[in-house]
Amino acid sequence: MAISEHPWAEELPLLYDHLWARLTLSVNDRHAPSRYPTLATVSENGMPQARTVVLRDADKQAATLAIYTDIHSEKISALRATPVAALHVWDAAEQLQIRIEANVTLLTGEAISEQWQRLPEHARSAYSSGPAPGEPIADSLAYTKTPDENAFAVLWLDIQAIEALHLGQSHRRAEFSRANNWVGQWLVP
Ligand SMILES: Cc1cc2nc3c(=O)[nH]c(=O)nc-3n(C[C@H](O)[C@H](O)[C@H](O)COP(=O)(O)O)c2cc1C
Repeated sequence: MAISEHPWAEELPLLYDHLWARLTLSVNDRHAPSRYPTLATVSENGMPQARTVVLRDADKQAATLAIYTDIHSEKISALRATPVAALHVWDAAEQLQIRIEANVTLLTGEAISEQWQRLPEHARSAYSSGPAPGEPIADSLAYTKTPDENAFAVLWLDIQAIEALHLGQSHRRAEFSRANNWVGQWLVP
């Protein structure tokens, strides 16, 4: 019998633990594949919108994730109107696709002042006063970024479902949901 390269993909509880190990790893490892997931939201006119973000926090017990963003970015108005998101990761080293559905809460102000304090000075300019991200400008560099704590926001993702697709000698696909207490269900890949 061939020895499996990824034995964690063969049992639902192992797969679930492994998903979270990969997500958690990325919070402190800037080279981890799940460090830069794609976040998808629904725009105010009903269009899907996807963009790369940095995963800043992952809590397996609570099944929550955190992403930092600028309060003036367009995703904010989208999330205010439709507070749900999907997150996508392709972890090539593990041959693992992770798809997440979540309810999103927008955190600002006092609630996130600790996270702001921990941000290095150079990283703070991603959250700035002045022209909003996406505003038209006369020239490519006709903008300045002035760090502003009031522009700093955290997207708190309360995960409702996680789907895993593992590509191996045999492919395996499973869904884990909050409603089902994360027990897991195999699906046809
Ligand atoms: C590698 C990488 C990491 C990024 N990380 C973030 C992030 O953590 N938060 C964020 O709001 N935008 C991040 N961005 C920028 C977004 O992809 C996007 O351009 C920006 O948030 C505006 O999106 P919106 O107009 O849909 O709101 C990142 C972009 C790249 C290429």
